Amino acid sequence: MASLIPVGVAGLGRYVPEQRLTNRDLEQIVDTSDEWIVQRTGIRERRIVAKDEVTSSLALRAARQALEDAKLAPEDLDLVICATVTGDQPFPATACRVGFDLGAKRAGGFDVAAACSGFVFASQIAAGFVQSGQYRHVLVVGAETLSRILDYEDRNTCVLFGDGAGAALFTPLERAGRGEFLGGSISMEGGAEAVLAQPGGGSRHPSTHATVDQRLHYMKMGGTKVFRFAVRVFAELVQKVVDRHGRDAIGLIVPHQVNQRIIEAAMEQVGLPMDLVFTNIDRYGNTSAASVPIALREAYDAGRLTKGKLVVMPAFGAGMAWGHLLLRW
Ligand SMILES: CC(C)(COP(=O)(O)OP(=O)(O)OC[C@H]1O[C@@H](n2cnc3c(N)ncnc32)[C@H](O)[C@@H]1OP(=O)(O)O)[C@@H](O)C(=O)NCCC(=O)NCCS
Repeated sequence: MASLIPVGVAGLGRYVPEQRLTNRDLEQIVDTSDEWIVQRTGIRERRIVAKDEVTSSLALRAARQALEDAKLAPEDLDLVICATVTGDQPFPATACRVGFDLGAKRAGGFDVAAACSGFVFASQIAAGFVQSGQYRHVLVVGAETLSRILDYEDRNTCVLFGDGAGAALFTPLERAGRGEFLGGSISMEGGAEAVLAQPGGGSRHPSTHATVDQRLHYMKMGGTKVFRFAVRVFAELVQKVVDRHGRDAIGLIVPHQVNQRIIEAAMEQVGLPMDLVFTNIDRYGNTSAASVPIALREAYDAGRLTKGKLVVMPAFGAGMAWGHLLLRW
């Protein structure tokens, strides 16, 4: 077998919509309070798409920034992978629209549906294509418009999520010069549809007037179960990296931005300080597949990615599905 080509991250991008939805705004919509939301989640506001924006239009903005960062043109792309559970429509894949709008004339594309773990899984697929030599320039975009599937009559869910997009461009390491791909993991535990899902609109509950009356086209969630699961798998994922590489090798943990309390509880469990973690949950809430790449680009802009140190990206969500992406910056 031919030896694997070392892979790196040549470019990063992010985009969030202009419109802010604050906790005070939500107080006018459901029975909640700024104090409750901040205490339980750390979220102060989230971004919401305008009427004429869709998932692919957010993805496009993030993708363009990643291309610019990498100094590559759309025609250079071999593959576009879009991680999303709120695509423009059930099919065709949102990646096809993103590729078309970008002008990625040579590229193929497809979507990855793994909810909040989508970017972390798609990045491992992308890196595999580059490692094998099949493709040189693979763009991964995590993009979501969760506001379009949230029930703004359900305070258990509508306060937690927001919209946005983030992107990473994987190329051979010699081209990228940074962000060496060191691997990751992909895990799942099926049969948990009742815990976190959008039940309607698929083959189980095809859309009918009845499914709409039952509000099955909106996200449903059992918050406490998800909380315990997230703390457990987050801690396990980070612990594995510590065991393998040592605590001092870690430069920054950029986790799925799920909930400040979940992040703090997991960090306490593995005995690591919070200053090793990058969070922006206060400004965007949980943006599912977009959360890790938005945070990664912001960590990069803030100078928090240290040359030669590990960047650990644990993610977890509906499925249940979880895993991590590991880079050496
Ligand atoms: C949802 C979550 C914030 C709730 O926090 P919690 O500490 O578990 O909440 P508690 O169980 O102590 O309290 C629940 C109570 O708060 C109420 N509540 C829920 N949302 C509320 C809101 N937005 N405002 C005010 N009260 C709210 C519930 O109705 C419930 O009231 P009850 O006890 O009268 O039935 C928390 O469970 C969580 O973050 N879970 C993970 C969710 C998530 O991130 N999912 C995505 C994973 S990728």
